[in-house]
Amino acid sequence: MVIIGLREFKKVRDIIYSKTGIYIPESKVYFLKKRIENRLKELELQSAEDYIKYLHFFDKTGREVQNLINLVTVNETYFFREFPQLQAFAEHCLPEVARKAPHKKIEILSAGCSTGEEPYTLSIILMEMLDSARSFEITAIDIDENALEKAKKGIYNERSVKDVPKIYLEKYFDVLKSGYAVKPVVKKNVKFKKVNLFDARSLSMLGKDFDFIFCRNVLIYFSDDSRRKVVESFYNMMVPGGYIFLGHSESVSRITTAFRIKRAGDFIVYQKPLE
Ligand SMILES: C[S@@+](CC[C@H](N)C(=O)[O-])C[C@H]1O[C@@H](n2cnc3c(N)ncnc32)[C@H](O)[C@@H]1O
Repeated sequence: MVIIGLREFKKVRDIIYSKTGIYIPESKVYFLKKRIENRLKELELQSAEDYIKYLHFFDKTGREVQNLINLVTVNETYFFREFPQLQAFAEHCLPEVARKAPHKKIEILSAGCSTGEEPYTLSIILMEMLDSARSFEITAIDIDENALEKAKKGIYNERSVKDVPKIYLEKYFDVLKSGYAVKPVVKKNVKFKKVNLFDARSLSMLGKDFDFIFCRNVLIYFSDDSRRKVVESFYNMMVPGGYIFLGHSESVSRITTAFRIKRAGDFIVYQKPLE
């Protein structure tokens, strides 16, 4: 068994933080220890110190940091997660944005899309809510390569689709022996990309015309500073009048006061001011 003390834990934790913005608290020593052990076995290294040296001096391409990141990300997600929030988006925010710029392609960013359930849910909602001639595009990004591979395949188990309304399950999924496959019509407007949210330059290269940014259940793993940095980047990537959606337990106004607070049905939403 490999001994990983607090000192080694902190060194690896700091490397992950500096690359991703993800902050692993001391209460999660065991969680990180398990993952470091897994990497030591793969690399045939003997100790956590050897691993830290490896990360600092031999990982020129950043491949090993990426392997570690793939292991520490939390990928929990499912279709139609946080239904009331999606309802506020679909019934209030989306029609308003679509009406105000009738000729603009609607652009959505799903930041921290994990295995794809969120962007595909949004694609289904847009197909249901918009005029069929209206074009839209969903850019779905994540740092975790394994999650993105699964997202591109678009095949899910029973648990992932448990909250999909039956009528949509029949309309937008094919039932296979191996699970539920998202139909090509749902996939066609979703493009997946590996992007690190903590890398402001890569993020800004995605464009400045997003009407909606969804970044739900992602920033809860970040420190206050990294959260603020990411939300500032989002602000600059959005059109005036665009909306940002964080997870149900996260409050935009606790991170920044740049967005306007609005009521959308029973829900509070955050909008980039018009001017
Ligand atoms: C819990 S999932 C959230 C999935 C989906 N948004 C939802 O609410 O169901 C969090 C995702 O954020 C991704 N993530 C964490 N840090 C990231 C970073 N720095 N850049 C891009 N994605 C990141 C993780 O890889 C993971 O897939």
